[in-house]
Amino acid sequence: MDPISLDRLVGLLGRWSAQRGSLQELLAARLRQLIEDGSLPPDTALPPDRALAGALAVGRNTVVAAYRILREQGLLERRQGSGTRVTTAMLTAARTAAGSASPLFLHLLEPSDAAIQLTCASPWLPPPELAELQPEVTTRLAAGVADMGYHPAGVPDLRQALADRYTWRGVPTRAEQILVTTGAQQALSLLVRLLVGPGDEVLFAAPTYPGLFEPCREAGARIHPIRADDGLDLASYLRAIADRPALAYVIATFHNPTGEVLSSLQRRRLVETCQRHDVPLIDDEVLAELDLDEAAPPPMAGGPVINVGSLSKLVWGGLRVGWVRAPEPLITRLARVKAAHDLGSPVLDQWLAAALLPRLEAVRARRIAELRAQRDRLCAELAANSPWTFQVPPGGQTLWVRLPYGDASAFAQHALRFGVAVLPGQTLDPERRSGDCLRIPFLLPPAELAEAVHRLAEAWRSYDGTAAVAAVNAMVV
Ligand SMILES: Cc1ncc(COP(=O)(O)O)c(C=O)c1O
Repeated sequence: MDPISLDRLVGLLGRWSAQRGSLQELLAARLRQLIEDGSLPPDTALPPDRALAGALAVGRNTVVAAYRILREQGLLERRQGSGTRVTTAMLTAARTAAGSASPLFLHLLEPSDAAIQLTCASPWLPPPELAELQPEVTTRLAAGVADMGYHPAGVPDLRQALADRYTWRGVPTRAEQILVTTGAQQALSLLVRLLVGPGDEVLFAAPTYPGLFEPCREAGARIHPIRADDGLDLASYLRAIADRPALAYVIATFHNPTGEVLSSLQRRRLVETCQRHDVPLIDDEVLAELDLDEAAPPPMAGGPVINVGSLSKLVWGGLRVGWVRAPEPLITRLARVKAAHDLGSPVLDQWLAAALLPRLEAVRARRIAELRAQRDRLCAELAANSPWTFQVPPGGQTLWVRLPYGDASAFAQHALRFGVAVLPGQTLDPERRSGDCLRIPFLLPPAELAEAVHRLAEAWRSYDGTAAVAAVNAMVV
């Protein structure tokens, strides 16, 4: 059995240290859970204690003690020359898929704890309109109109309402150009399934929202990252398009995590180049309508452009309504893929979304006002309490913060012990770079954000960045 990589193990360990108890016992308990549920199958080699200690920003003794506890319980064994290995498991995972390794998604699976959540960036509360409109859905349900409820491409009136919204945003669209999906994440997965095969190349800006990484890996695709640390290196991106990757992915408006907006000129060059080389271009627009300072350019459209959007950030993640806007033939093919996948997204959610769309501007205006106040408070608190640097994003929901030294992944582990869960830059970077950055969402009310910054600043004061980095770099498995 191959050794588990340090990154994957740290991801699986999640918020292991956010509970009460000694660190060695907490670590042993979480490792035991992973062994028992088959995430660490028998014979898996665990990282050397010093490497794991560095990655978790704990003393080496903590890992040594945790490994010892598990050895005493018969779950680990130490073999001469091959380190520490898993001896047994309740479930054998050998024939099951590995499941998500993205810390972004694994955090969603953590039981709730006392840590302030700065990992997922989505509204904490559904807007009141969803409850107010629920009776419309009930009435429709009670009306007894014949409908089997299977709509793989989406219910017709929601497809029409989404098309009308694109038209209103400046891009004429027909209902047949829209496929409704279960959130934008499903839209991205389905597009990879349709457009990408083994050995194909997919072009990304790095860092980026990581939702496409795993579908691409599962498809056997190669990820081609283009640096976007201080804004997308467009010249390199365009050159890479000329090599004809199977797919190119951008977040042109209020990029997650950096907040960047591509200018109209940059968009035009991108679309023209993709058109010339016949490369499909996904523009992930999930954040595009969260303009906090000034209106964003209209959506990219036409030719190779595939727009992906959702109501998750404007309205609420729990609604799980997303979509793809693309030329009709592609939507038809995608609908077949979706039919094989789930026969269509839940109709009641789609009815609710269709009822909400006429009132979306009111919901959006409120969300923007909240986000602006929260962003401004977060920036002010960080400026006053930390040496971290950042650009104020003109929209979206996240701040991309640069640390003056140290390793963001190890610091995120350290911050857990101060009651804050935050995403390190590496988790948003297909090359595992961005290790000097943290993504901090501004979704909590201002007072809670202030408390989060207070805890982060306290964690930073006691963080010995140099030691942790040295240990991780020296020992990465
Ligand atoms: C850029 C981007 N794309 C896609 C998604 C997934 O959105 P959904 O919740 O609609 O699946 C997210 C969620 O954070 C995102 O930030």
